[in-house]
This record gives sequence, C-alpha cells and structure tokens, in this order.
Amino acid sequence: MSAAYVQLLDAAIAHCEALRADGIDSVPVSAETLAGLSAKRPAPMRPAAPKPATPAARPFAFVPASMTTAQEASSPATPVVAPTSTPRPLPASVVSRWGQAARPIVPTVAKVHIPPSQPALPPPLQPAAKDAAMAELRTRALACVQCSHLAGSRQTVVFGVGDIHARLMFIGEAPGADEDQQGEPFVGKAGELLTKMIIAMGLSRSEVYIANILKCRPDTPGQTAVNRKPTSDEMATCIPWLHRQIDIIQPDAMVALGATAVEGLLGGTAGIAKLRGTWQSYRGIPLMPTYHPAYLLQNQAPSEKRKVWEDLMAAMEKLALPINAKQRAYFLPKA
Ligand code: URA
Repeated sequence: MSAAYVQLLDAAIAHCEALRADGIDSVPVSAETLAGLSAKRPAPMRPAAPKPATPAARPFAFVPASMTTAQEASSPATPVVAPTSTPRPLPASVVSRWGQAARPIVPTVAKVHIPPSQPALPPPLQPAAKDAAMAELRTRALACVQCSHLAGSRQTVVFGVGDIHARLMFIGEAPGADEDQQGEPFVGKAGELLTKMIIAMGLSRSEVYIANILKCRPDTPGQTAVNRKPTSDEMATCIPWLHRQIDIIQPDAMVALGATAVEGLLGGTAGIAKLRGTWQSYRGIPLMPTYHPAYLLQNQAPSEKRKVWEDLMAAMEKLALPINAKQRAYFLPKA
C-alpha cells in the first residue's frame, strides 16, 4: 500500500472520528462507490487496535445515499471507507465568537430520512453575501402585506434577531404583544426565559439567531393582551420568509420551540410531547423539537425544565459545545 494511500486513509478516519464525536455516525455513499470500495479494499496494514468499551467506540457507518432511517437501523454497520464531504471553512468572525467550539463546518449529513417535500438547501453563501441577502430579505419582509388582516393590526414586522453566521437557530411560533411593540422576537416573559436558557448553554442572544414561523402578531381584535395560535393559512403564507432565512444562515443545528414551530418546519401535527428530545431533520439540518418557554412558565415542575434542558444539551453536544458537570446536573433532583 502506498504512503499516499495510508495518509488518505488516516485523514478519512480522523474525519470520521470528528463526525462521530459530533453525534453523526453515518454518511451517505453512493452504491457504486461502496461496491468499488469493497472490491478494492486492501488487506489490513496493521492489526486493529483494541477498542475501548465506550459508547463512542461504535462503528462509524457509511450508508447508501438512498437509505432511509428505518433501513439504516436494520442494516449492519459498513466498515469505515472514505468520507464523501469536504469541510467548509468557518468565517473568521465565527471562529472568534465560538472559540474552541468552532471547527470546520461539515455539510450536514441527515441520519434521518429527508421527506421528498423538503427541497435541498441552496449552496452556502460567503459571509458578505449573507449580509446582503439577509438585508434584502428583511427589507422585503418588512413591507409584506400578504395577510392584510395582520398587516392592518401589527405595530411592527418581527423579522428575526441575532447573528446570521450563527451555528444555532431557535424557531418560535409568532410574536406576542411585546415583540409586536419592539420588533424583536422573544422579548416578553417567554423571551426572558429563552434568554436565560441560551445563557445557561454558555451562549448569548447575539451569538444565535432567533426567528418565528410568523413574522406578524396574530391579531386578536378587542383583546390586546391575549395571544392566539397562527392559522394554517397564515403559516403557509408566511413560512417562505423563514425558509429563506434558513437558506441564508444554514446553521449547523436548530431548536424548534413548541408544536407550532415543529408544524411550520416539518409539517404534520405529531404531538410535541412525543417529538421533543428526538432529532429531526429540516432539509438536512438537525432539528431538535422542545417545549416552548411559555409552557415552562405555566408548568414550573423541575422535571419539565429538565426535559427542555436535556434537549438543549443535545443541541450543545451536536455543536460540540462544552458541557460542564454543573450544567449536566441542572434541574436534577438533589441527591
Ligand atoms: N413566543 C414566540 O413563539 N415567539 C416570540 O417571539 C414570542 C413569544
């Protein structure tokens, strides 16, 4: 075996280890590539190192690109061969903000089957192009009058806030009265709790991006203090703005806050209690559904807070953000 081949193999293995540390334990490989690799696989150069008995030691699988989760789950892992994706370099601004956690962004490999109704993401934009695209999108969204009843009742269009180069996005339902007044998502009581949650993750609001399914406050004629769920027509009309925001940002992970956010992003109305804590895929971007902070304001049981915190820790793990022992113990019953 040539030295160049060994070097390539080592690089491929290192790349797979990095993916696995990130919670990704399979990548799609075309059937032709797999067949070619099995035919050409050379005899092992060195005896396999003994594997420590830790969960991280599970084999990394390359799965045929057409395989769905169910098929994948029932298939034995295929031995490591070669990665199919090249890491994208991080913009300097992201490296400086995310410090140790920053690493080359690997184009997201969906372990979960992407339904055909989810169009592929466009090629990622360079940072300057992102700024221009988001500014242009914002200008158009702020002038939107497609839902004439909402355009007539709103104080502001609540477009989104945070870093458009962020690796993590939070998606909520729709602006409430405070957000409508201030033109910024999650600034009311639920927003204060979301901000605390973000800080508990070791981040700040300015390091993530926060947006809603609906950009206008759902109107509640004669009842200024009451919020209502967006209708499906309102969601269908407004969702292209969010799709485009995600096209531009292309975060490494997203957190959907509550059932409406999940419904807006993935369609369907599977209960949030069932979905939360389980990774979903929005056009290849890992999406973690969790409870809306407003739910936690209603139900302050530590067990419910813990569920949300576990979902947020899963997002931290996905992004390779550090989690210390104190953070791991949040909302656990005291021994
Ligand atoms: N609830 C949401 O879902 N979004 C907001 O912006 C505020 C409250």
